[in-house]
Amino acid sequence: MYWNFGEIVPPQPAKPFSAKSGRIVAEIGFGNGEFLQYLAESRTDALVVGMEISQWCITKAARRSLAMRAGNVRLLHGDARYLLKYAFEPESISEVFMNFPCPWPKKRHEGRRVTHGCFVRLLRSRLAEGGAFNLATDVDWYAEASAKVFSETGGFAASMPERGGTRDYATKYERKWRAMGRDIYTLRAVKTSLATEGEKIVEEEILPIEEEEAEIPRATDACDLRVAAAALKGENIEGSGYIAAFRDIFTGERGELLVKVISTDEGFEQHFYLRIRENNGRIQISSDAVGRPYHTPGVRAAVRHAAKRLSMAV
Ligand SMILES: C[S@@+](CC[C@H](N)C(=O)[O-])C[C@H]1O[C@@H](n2cnc3c(N)ncnc32)[C@H](O)[C@@H]1O
Repeated sequence: MYWNFGEIVPPQPAKPFSAKSGRIVAEIGFGNGEFLQYLAESRTDALVVGMEISQWCITKAARRSLAMRAGNVRLLHGDARYLLKYAFEPESISEVFMNFPCPWPKKRHEGRRVTHGCFVRLLRSRLAEGGAFNLATDVDWYAEASAKVFSETGGFAASMPERGGTRDYATKYERKWRAMGRDIYTLRAVKTSLATEGEKIVEEEILPIEEEEAEIPRATDACDLRVAAAALKGENIEGSGYIAAFRDIFTGERGELLVKVISTDEGFEQHFYLRIRENNGRIQISSDAVGRPYHTPGVRAAVRHAAKRLSMAV
């Protein structure tokens, strides 16, 4: 069956979600999407935005949202630590829910935790005053560590983790852990203060989400474009908060060149293609629409780097 995900899964948010168009409720790591459905049905006045790193979960939740004809659900594919920052305006979200995140217990994996690093500071910048973050987990130390980060970061009134309370909706993982006899811990942190000096730093780092495309003139016919593009293979670039590696090169259906790139922005990894085309003596370089990468600083730097290298060769 063909599913038209249409506006439920916006290919690339043209501009960040804003509270100007109404109340926003967000969920991080929605898994099969049933809690999103509950949010959409219980908060019909709000736009419910889910963020999920797994493509398969996006597909499942999109089907669910279409089947229930939820007009107030949007799904964003990617790392919530990145999406919170780039897809939402400051102080735009009323409530954020995170149910049973992977705790990544090993020390060497702690960087993969959603709550790692500047997450709480970023959350504070994206929540409206009086907005709340709600965490549910089956891992006692994770709940305690999260409560500690909230109290250390400030700007929140955070409850101590509560054990065993009932919740309005039990997710798939909650049912699973309860069936195994595990305790469930919940934590609610309410934003109490307006933006601080520290948050302004976060704002300055925010770049608009926009298409990245570069165009350069062909100065000489002496060098074959494919040979010049192939020279990118194996190159790595690095900048503030990002790295990008140029991998294989392919020829597309219409003779265009496709260079595979892997970029990482503050731990958010994307695999995509740079499309290189020649048209009327000009060479166009853009991120290919098929991979639908978010136009992060790493992706944009890769486009600029390819343009610079090609302009030196052709
Ligand atoms: C253990 S499952 C819980 C699923 C669901 N919330 C539930 O309670 O049934 C954790 C989910 O978080 C997602 N996830 C992990 N890290 C993420 C990140 N950085 N950003 C967005 N989603 C993430 C995973 O793909 C997975 O679907």
